[in-house]
Amino acid sequence: MEPVQSNNNASGKPVIEINNLYKAFGDQKVLNGFSLELLEGENLVLMGKSGSGKSVMIKCLVGLMEPDNGTVKVLGKDISKLKHIELDELRTHIGFLFQGSALYDSMTVRENLEFPLRRHTKNMTNRDRETRVREALENVGLPKTMDLMPAELSGGMQRRIALARALILKPRIIIYDEPTTGLDPITAKEIILLMMNIQKMYRTSSLIITHDVDCARVISNRMILLLDGINYAQGTFKELSTSTDPKIQAFFK
Ligand SMILES: Nc1ncnc2c1ncn2[C@@H]1O[C@H](COP(=O)(O)OP(=O)(O)O)[C@@H](O)[C@H]1O
Ligand SMILES: [Mg+2]
Repeated sequence: MEPVQSNNNASGKPVIEINNLYKAFGDQKVLNGFSLELLEGENLVLMGKSGSGKSVMIKCLVGLMEPDNGTVKVLGKDISKLKHIELDELRTHIGFLFQGSALYDSMTVRENLEFPLRRHTKNMTNRDRETRVREALENVGLPKTMDLMPAELSGGMQRRIALARALILKPRIIIYDEPTTGLDPITAKEIILLMMNIQKMYRTSSLIITHDVDCARVISNRMILLLDGINYAQGTFKELSTSTDPKIQAFFK
């Protein structure tokens, strides 16, 4: 796969601003002054080894965890200053693809996709909801799965359904936590292509957390490397992957 440069419609305006974030658990310092800016329209890849604090950072970003220090702004709003209801509203602008797929096992595909709609939209008729579900399923290439249970689907299909659910509220930002982990290389490649299509169709800004060097190469407009709790390095895939710094080289092995 070749990098898709035409996918870069970054406008330069930040949609997420994380500044000097600190988070420790007891003596364990996880984030130690981490900063990140996600610009409108870009695909930003964050790499960091397992246990380096990527998921902790995401939890701080969406207000599920309180940082010890530092600020987080999403779409211009400092999330620590928001009331519960305002935070809930802000979260509707952020789609998530969780590590794994995290579909509700006891619900059909349709029910899984309707869940965020029922929770976050008022005055939506059954027919409107069904149209929205159908459209989301078509956009991930699985129009005929509406009445199936997650267990009836392959791992790759489950990941697509999870992506459809992440998109159902038409978010401005999508956060992908390890989108290709646990998939075989061919399915992983399909998911990456789908992510790039979604980016074009929905004009989202994406933060992609991944270990997958091939995924990073294909999808990133820009990358940030998380090391020792800080944003150790940033740049394009080409800049970072040709760096002579052994700590940076280690990310690409
Ligand atoms: N709620 C918690 N309580 C205590 N330690 C935690 C908690 N959440 C995460 N950690 C620790 O913080 C570190 C970073 O975790 P995490 O952000 O999940 O890593 P990853 O980069 O793999 O996503 C790990 O050592 C983990 O054990
Ligand atoms: Mg994680």
